[in-house]
Amino acid sequence: MFNSNRNNTLQPSTVPDALIDIHQVTKTYETSGGPCRALKSIDLHVREGEFVAVVGKSGSGKSTLINMITGIDRPSTGEMWVVNAPIHAYNENQLAIWRGKSVGVVFQFFQLLPTLTVLENVMLPMDLSGCYHNGDRERNALQRLAAVDIAEQAHKLPANLSGGQQQRVAIARALANDPPLIVADEPTGNLDSNTALAVVSLFEELARRGKTVLMVTHDPDLAQRANRLVRIADGQIVEDSAKRGRK
Ligand SMILES: Nc1ncnc2c1ncn2[C@@H]1O[C@H](COP(=O)(O)OP(=O)(O)OP(=O)(O)O)[C@@H](O)[C@H]1O
Ligand SMILES: [Mg+2]
Repeated sequence: MFNSNRNNTLQPSTVPDALIDIHQVTKTYETSGGPCRALKSIDLHVREGEFVAVVGKSGSGKSTLINMITGIDRPSTGEMWVVNAPIHAYNENQLAIWRGKSVGVVFQFFQLLPTLTVLENVMLPMDLSGCYHNGDRERNALQRLAAVDIAEQAHKLPANLSGGQQQRVAIARALANDPPLIVADEPTGNLDSNTALAVVSLFEELARRGKTVLMVTHDPDLAQRANRLVRIADGQIVEDSAKRGRK
């Protein structure tokens, strides 16, 4: 699976088609009450175009894992190759550049900037990454908004949109730089069930179009919509439907 002579430099992942390739990752938080072992030796391989639901009880380690994959937090030990990069070995600068082009993140509470219009929110990651010329940004942002069926709201402020509409904008923002990986931590936790289903349908569609989608959810019905289910309990993967042949 991993080359024995592998070091922390630019050797690519050796799992075929792996967009996420995690090897023996642990995370221990130091707290006033002593060390908290949030992740205990995680191995996970996700291929391009997979739609993976991550489930598990509160406190099991789902967000900790997701935050490692997006480079928001760092593992205590282990190797993480995500979108062909050894992010366990990256410094903050390298992580910021890698993240801008490689991964789109969707949050439970949307986290749109309230003083920017919908269009400006979607253009912001393009500004930060420097991937697009000035004149292309607005056109691209409108395309991303159209892809999630919300382009007609482009010039409104987020506060004037419903929760479901705001989450669509957040997904358009996650798609801004056309990253291969979309990661969402309870993206439907703040939505009613019909709106939640519509958001998950969007993720299904993105995966059909070749994006890799990783979604944390507490809702078993929504988890069923993914084509792979990974269950975490007490910092470990205790079930992975890919390993019992369900696809
Ligand atoms: N910054 C932190 N400092 C200390 N401990 C933390 C920190 N973040 C998480 N933990 C602990 O790590 C464990 C896993 O937390 P995590 O947030 O990953 O769980 P979760 O599965 O996402 O839960 P939920 O479903 O409630 O969001 C918990 O015991 C939690 O208390
Ligand atoms: Mg969480």
